[in-house]
Amino acid sequence: MRTTEQIPAQEPARQFHYMEVARDLVQKKAEEAGRPLSFFVQTFGCQMNARDSEKLRGILQHIGFVPGEDETADFVLYNTCTVRENANQKVYGRLGYLQTLKRKNPSMFIALCGCMMQEPEVLQTLRDKYTFVDLVFGTHNIFKLAELIVRALEQHEMLIDVWKDTDMIVEDLPVDRKYSFKSGVNIMFGCNNFCSYCIVPYVRGRERSRNPRDIIREIESLISEGVREVMLLGQNVNSYGKNLDPQVTFAELLETIAGIDGLDRIRFMTSHPKDLSEDLIRVMAEHPKICRHLHLPLQSGSTEILRRMNRRYTKEQYLELVDRIRAAVPDISLTTDIIVGFPGETEADFQETLDVVRRVRYDSAFTFIYSKRTGTPAAVMENQVPDEVIKDRFGRLLAEVQEIGREQTARFTGQTMPVLVEQQNEQDPALVTGRLDTNAVVHFPGDPSLIGQIVDVYLAECRGFYYLGEMRNQELPSS
Ligand code: 5AD
Ligand code: SF4
Repeated sequence: MRTTEQIPAQEPARQFHYMEVARDLVQKKAEEAGRPLSFFVQTFGCQMNARDSEKLRGILQHIGFVPGEDETADFVLYNTCTVRENANQKVYGRLGYLQTLKRKNPSMFIALCGCMMQEPEVLQTLRDKYTFVDLVFGTHNIFKLAELIVRALEQHEMLIDVWKDTDMIVEDLPVDRKYSFKSGVNIMFGCNNFCSYCIVPYVRGRERSRNPRDIIREIESLISEGVREVMLLGQNVNSYGKNLDPQVTFAELLETIAGIDGLDRIRFMTSHPKDLSEDLIRVMAEHPKICRHLHLPLQSGSTEILRRMNRRYTKEQYLELVDRIRAAVPDISLTTDIIVGFPGETEADFQETLDVVRRVRYDSAFTFIYSKRTGTPAAVMENQVPDEVIKDRFGRLLAEVQEIGREQTARFTGQTMPVLVEQQNEQDPALVTGRLDTNAVVHFPGDPSLIGQIVDVYLAECRGFYYLGEMRNQELPSS
């Protein structure tokens, strides 16, 4: 066992030290058990959490755990979401199940992290009712996983390490990527917008942008490992760089990334309409590697509701922005998020939302029932909308969104377009599944050797939200 005498003060050296200590501990336990110890990471929520989980998995593998199948693993970690109340309920439900597993296997290690852990009431509930949990940490210190595991194993009771906020961004820790050919890349963390319904600014803290040099270095290293597509991630990528010195805009960053050799596709999310610049539209129009897909959350089509949501744009401004984007990037696929039942939403407000949906014609939309999040301004607003009214509106919105989505998705039928092949089809092993740059899903006959390649596919038929296609004869790209 290594001693703890010389613990480096600087990151990431400190974490590499703890990874060595943790590796010794894991190896010792594996020898006692007579088998390798397994881990299982379950991710709830958004793409940012999915990327965080890749980092957590990277550290767990580095310290000697092997991937397990499910919650019967020796080390179970839930990376939680709290954006809507039912996300929390799901985690509490699953914790009940973990408790029964831990009764059978007392040496099992249970850890919780992510947005839900940033809520003080959640921590209190865990302390009161879920004492079998070994480790709890938040969204700001995931890089510390190895150190936290070492400390939790030493202290034999629940270890809670949740930070309120931080300026720290730790680079260069191990990552276990889900796909070999595409990857998320964080460009910023946190959010300063304080939309009145949203808990994210409270749990993810203030905006912090990564240095462009670090982002480019990461992308170059991903390319050298075979990555062809990156998804630039942030809660509001359009305000990237505001806290950097010298300032860098998102459009500038994107243009630099578009110039990197060896990258075929660039995606990004999420964009806040209020911060989407003319420069960004120009860069998207000029660089074919930037995918023709924009996720542009609407939230509501009513200017009055938008005002109360603190979104800082009007219905007309949103529609005008969509016109400018479509004029510059014809055929772009637009997707969105919409909330139904925000406090005070009237039928007339809801009709405004339907009106925007009909005018913009989204390729797809995530529709959410408003969820009251304690601590946000909207939670104490008057005129909360009754459940039956929300359900009725939600049904009508979904029907509209789905019908338009089907028609929009089908617009490329009969064309031949490049598809990045992602996986073997889950239902039919004779097919592979990939995506157009617009993000539409395509299934076509092919074998798994195509995975990670970009191939031309004739889009023969659109079935709802996906295409059935046929690969066109071509020389396979050399990769
Ligand atoms: N209730 C319902 N939906 C919400 N979202 C964020 N907060 C809430 C809430 N309190 C939705 C928004 C956001 C998406 C990620 O989640 O539409 O864009
Ligand atoms: Fe939440 Fe608004 Fe920030 Fe998006 S922009 S994370 S909805 S506060």
